[in-house]
Amino acid sequence: MKERPIDNKRVYIFDTTLRDGEQSPGASLNVSEKLEIAQVLAELGVDIIEAGFPISSEGDFEAVKTIAERVEGPVICGLARALPKDIDRCWEAIRSNPRPRIHTFIATSQVHLEKKLRKSPAEVIELAVEAVKRARGYCENVEFSTEDAARSDRDYICEIIERCIAAGATTINIPDTVGYSNPWEYGGLIEYVFAKAPNVHDAVISVHCHNDLGLAVANSLAAVRAGARQVECTINGIGERAGNTSLEEFVMNLATRHGFFGFHTGIRTEKIFRASRMVSNFTGIVVQPNKAVVGANAFAHEAGIHQDGMIKDKSTYEIMTPESVGWRGQSLVMGKHSGRNAFTKRLQELGFSLSPEQVERAFEEFKELADLKKDVFDEDLEAIAIRVQNLEPEVGAETFSLEYLQTVTSLRERPRAVVSLRCGEEVLDGTATGDGPVDAVCNAIRKITGTPSRMVDYRIAAITGGTDAQGSVSLTLEEVPFRSVGRASGPDIIVASAEAYIMALNILEQKKSSARISSVSVTQP
Ligand code: KIV
Ligand code: ZN
Repeated sequence: MKERPIDNKRVYIFDTTLRDGEQSPGASLNVSEKLEIAQVLAELGVDIIEAGFPISSEGDFEAVKTIAERVEGPVICGLARALPKDIDRCWEAIRSNPRPRIHTFIATSQVHLEKKLRKSPAEVIELAVEAVKRARGYCENVEFSTEDAARSDRDYICEIIERCIAAGATTINIPDTVGYSNPWEYGGLIEYVFAKAPNVHDAVISVHCHNDLGLAVANSLAAVRAGARQVECTINGIGERAGNTSLEEFVMNLATRHGFFGFHTGIRTEKIFRASRMVSNFTGIVVQPNKAVVGANAFAHEAGIHQDGMIKDKSTYEIMTPESVGWRGQSLVMGKHSGRNAFTKRLQELGFSLSPEQVERAFEEFKELADLKKDVFDEDLEAIAIRVQNLEPEVGAETFSLEYLQTVTSLRERPRAVVSLRCGEEVLDGTATGDGPVDAVCNAIRKITGTPSRMVDYRIAAITGGTDAQGSVSLTLEEVPFRSVGRASGPDIIVASAEAYIMALNILEQKKSSARISSVSVTQP
């Protein structure tokens, strides 16, 4: 099955938030978060979801398999190196979906061939062709990527593209893996492929741009003008290093400047903002306020002259409406007198489907927060809903929970923390000092649990403005080869930090014990 557009002005949106996006430093998602994001991407109208890289870990395999089983509509794709074991594993993960795609890749630049693969150009072509054939043995929809294409010899990539299309690839992706190119050069590369690869019209040409020089969206637009009809992108532009082409920016360029570009996508643009918030909440990667399309300031008019113009006629300073991307700014939703029905309705409007017990718990938290904080915003409700969903983490009974916490900070003394953790029937106490109160709390938890893990990432962000804002904490622990991410939020950032740490420790323990169980079952007959 070729995913060729019948309509030559239609650009396919290939979303790789769950694969390349998840390669962003610190962005690790669990299976249920990935599934929720995939469902939102399907509602958004993306054509293809790259759900993960199944051979890379058990967790990734599980996530791709779950998405393939549960998400219908878009093509569900898994990534595989040009190796038989990768392709077999990828197929295992996606086979249950009615529209599966295998995406296989190999590097084509001189530097990658010499230094990374240590293979000759002819050997790489053979591996690519064999990979495409193997993938085609499983499914009709196969994408092949020439990794680091923007730094590859043009004639060489035309040759490998021709051979892979002949072997059955239905989409050919030409990535700017290191974000090195610019619109003139990259558009020229796509034109070159169209001119030199004789069977190029038998496949959809795709582009995948990284943002190292801030040109990923511009390069993707240039490529579309040169003939590409699939664009690979991520929500909020997250991804490896400086990220990937931002879905919302690319799509809104085509929509806002339709008269100039003349292309369209199947994206329901009014669902963009919700997807952006969800990805930011789940990954802990904060969207910069001045980010195009979805940033907090994207539709804010500060200067008096601008405000005056907006009052007279919005078209003076507004090139797209906030409604067209579902942007809702920071809206004051309710106060402490709001009732349960209004609260439940608002959560549904924000896209959360909580069980009656979860709604009950969330409502209690909302009341407590409304007592502490004078204004409660949608963002606060989102944080509560996510917190309540996370109260049922995928961890067993032998886990830690926070029983008591006290910190003392004073001007010329080191901050000190007293912490008690519950583990089953036992309550364990510890005290420690640190460079700051969060450090002191983490040191106390480390002492109590005796964990050898290292904290490799810690981020904190205010959910709304003001000193009474809730803080959202996301941190990553590492105990080689395992990593785990803990997230928590609340009006007290020290408590939120402790909770995020404990969540990450519990998940780490669970990962270690599942690895022990599977290694025992492997050695048993
Ligand atoms: O950046 C890249 O080249 C990739 C490929 C796997 C498509 O992510
Ligand atoms: Zn990439």
